[in-house]
Amino acid sequence: MGPILLTLVLHSAIPALLAHAPLRVLGIEGQPVFLKVNVPPDFLVRDALWRFLTPAEELVAISFKGTAQNVYQSRFYGRSRLHTNFSLEISPAALGDSGIFSALLVNTTGEIEKQIFHLEVYDVVSTPTIHVFGEESNPNRKSGSCEFFLACAASRGTNVTYSWAGPGGETLAGENHSALENGQVLRAKLDLSEKMASNYTCTVTNAVSAKSVSIEVQEQCQRQSGVKVTAYDYRDILLIVVPLACFLLSAAVILHAKCRSGKQISYVVAANEPFPA
Ligand SMILES: *[C@@H]1O[C@H](CO)[C@@H](O)[C@H](O)[C@H]1NC(C)=O
Ligand SMILES: *[C@@H]1O[C@H](CO)[C@@H](O)[C@H](O)[C@H]1NC(C)=O
Ligand SMILES: *[C@@H]1O[C@H](CO)[C@@H](O)[C@H](O)[C@H]1NC(C)=O
Repeated sequence: MGPILLTLVLHSAIPALLAHAPLRVLGIEGQPVFLKVNVPPDFLVRDALWRFLTPAEELVAISFKGTAQNVYQSRFYGRSRLHTNFSLEISPAALGDSGIFSALLVNTTGEIEKQIFHLEVYDVVSTPTIHVFGEESNPNRKSGSCEFFLACAASRGTNVTYSWAGPGGETLAGENHSALENGQVLRAKLDLSEKMASNYTCTVTNAVSAKSVSIEVQEQCQRQSGVKVTAYDYRDILLIVVPLACFLLSAAVILHAKCRSGKQISYVVAANEPFPA
């Protein structure tokens, strides 16, 4: 009886509440995550009610008049715990737990404190691998320069971004480097006459993790200037590299969706146009 009454009371009271800005909480898939409610000083909590608001509203847990927690049949059932300090623990967190939570606290004089949490759950990224593809000899290419593509892929990680650093760690821009496929593929041109270190680093990042890997391309370039070992046409690169990267990443739902969206087709079409010098 109690919790039902409480729910009715709270629903009618919601518009009058002073809601705080949502607190962003980051969770890692498979690990516990805490939604820590901040009890104001001198606020003697009598009842606490946790709800999940998106995509559909669900009651997660209630503590009524200091009684033991009631945990409801929500998507968090069996994975959630309402602690005695009214914080909610979800263990283990899952990707689909991302969303908005609301905690309502009622004190002994009937005052209400509302706190909103925005939980974001991510899968940690794994160490990426880089594949090198040399470019087929190009009549416009100056001798002594080396052109190639680097394709970076991490098999795990959600909502990732890719970035590259060149020899000496500088960020890459300008005529000799260009990023394709949201940064996952780097097209680079090296001057072989300059005897310098030529290692490239790919970093895969999301909100909870970052992993890097470096590759030395000097040897690849020496080979390219002699016998052409792995020479590919630019169009082939996009036909091979992009599906390969997508295949490696197919575990990540989002990227899978992207690969299916036919985005790589648009690149193949674009590849028929002259490449900017
Ligand atoms: C409440 O209790 C949990 C579990 O013991 C703990 O992790 C958390 O730090 C405590 N404090 C707050 C403010 O939630
Ligand atoms: C992660 O990516 C998915 C799919 O694109 C998106 O729905 C979600 O909002 C993203 N999460 C964050 C925190 O950006
Ligand atoms: C690009 O490479 C050429 C040699 O291949 C070099 O002369 C030029 O300075 C490089 N440009 C930039 C912006 O690094």
